Amino acid sequence: MIYEDLKGRKVLVTGSSSGIGSATAVLFSRQGCFVGVHYFRTKDGAQKTLEQVKKNSDGLLLRADVRDEKQAEEMVEQFAGEAGGIDVLVNNAGSLIDRQPFETATVDYHDDVYATNVRSVFLVTRSALPYLKKSKGNIINIGSVAGHTGGAHGSGMYSGAKAAVATETMSMANEFAKYRIRVNSVLPGFIETRFHQQFSTAQRRKEVAEQTPLGRNGTAEDVAKAVLFLASEAAGFITGEYIAVNGGLYMRA
Ligand SMILES: NC(=O)c1ccc[n+]([C@@H]2O[C@H](COP(=O)([O-])OP(=O)(O)OC[C@H]3O[C@@H](n4cnc5c(N)ncnc54)[C@H](OP(=O)(O)O)[C@@H]3O)[C@@H](O)[C@H]2O)c1
Repeated sequence: MIYEDLKGRKVLVTGSSSGIGSATAVLFSRQGCFVGVHYFRTKDGAQKTLEQVKKNSDGLLLRADVRDEKQAEEMVEQFAGEAGGIDVLVNNAGSLIDRQPFETATVDYHDDVYATNVRSVFLVTRSALPYLKKSKGNIINIGSVAGHTGGAHGSGMYSGAKAAVATETMSMANEFAKYRIRVNSVLPGFIETRFHQQFSTAQRRKEVAEQTPLGRNGTAEDVAKAVLFLASEAAGFITGEYIAVNGGLYMRA
């Protein structure tokens, strides 16, 4: 699918060295966007994403630990400087990090989960805001269906962090509406990326696919398509909303 209005837009996708972020960066490049391909630990993944982006349009490799205020700010400044502004920000970087139940979890783990998934969104958004105000752009935050359900074993703090992302999406939408900046979120369900290769067994992945009404687990592209829609003018009057991409596994009451 092609959204004509996205052509030439400057799009920053955090965590695009892998999975959902990588697929999102590539899909934006197919619309003719200039794409910021951001990574922290996985440089080769980011380079592969950028190679794919360059087959369609152009982009830029960016490195930052988005838990860190200075690194997040510098990364945004570098992108805006070289791209000439920011039209769309996709706050995708995030991780479960580990499976730790409340009973035995460490304080360091708790704090890292919130820094990786919540503080990161705040820091990158705050830095990008002056540019988004100029462009009357929009933001898409990647939450999780776990933020509604409480998640599976050992993902309670991650679920809490993702619930914060969903709630802060509404708060940002309210606060930034006066600048005509839209803010929405996408809540992936069970998506086959490195995430579940790291944190779920093959047996669990098979079971979830069987329980899912649409009969399979999601792909990174399934999520990227929803991000693209929200970024486009097709969603021009939508703000403070979320789209759940989960094959019907979890439905709203
Ligand atoms: N897969 C699912 O089923 C699922 C479900 C719900 C929500 N999500 C959410 O979707 C998003 C993407 O996940 P994914 O499935 O695509 O996982 P993934 O393949 O593991 O990708 C995670 C991305 O986040 C980046 N990242 C993690 N910590 C970072 C940090 N401190 N600083 C900068 N970048 C960091 C990683 O960069 P480096 O590797 O370069 O460090 C990587 O690019 C995450 O927010 C995740 O919580 C995923």
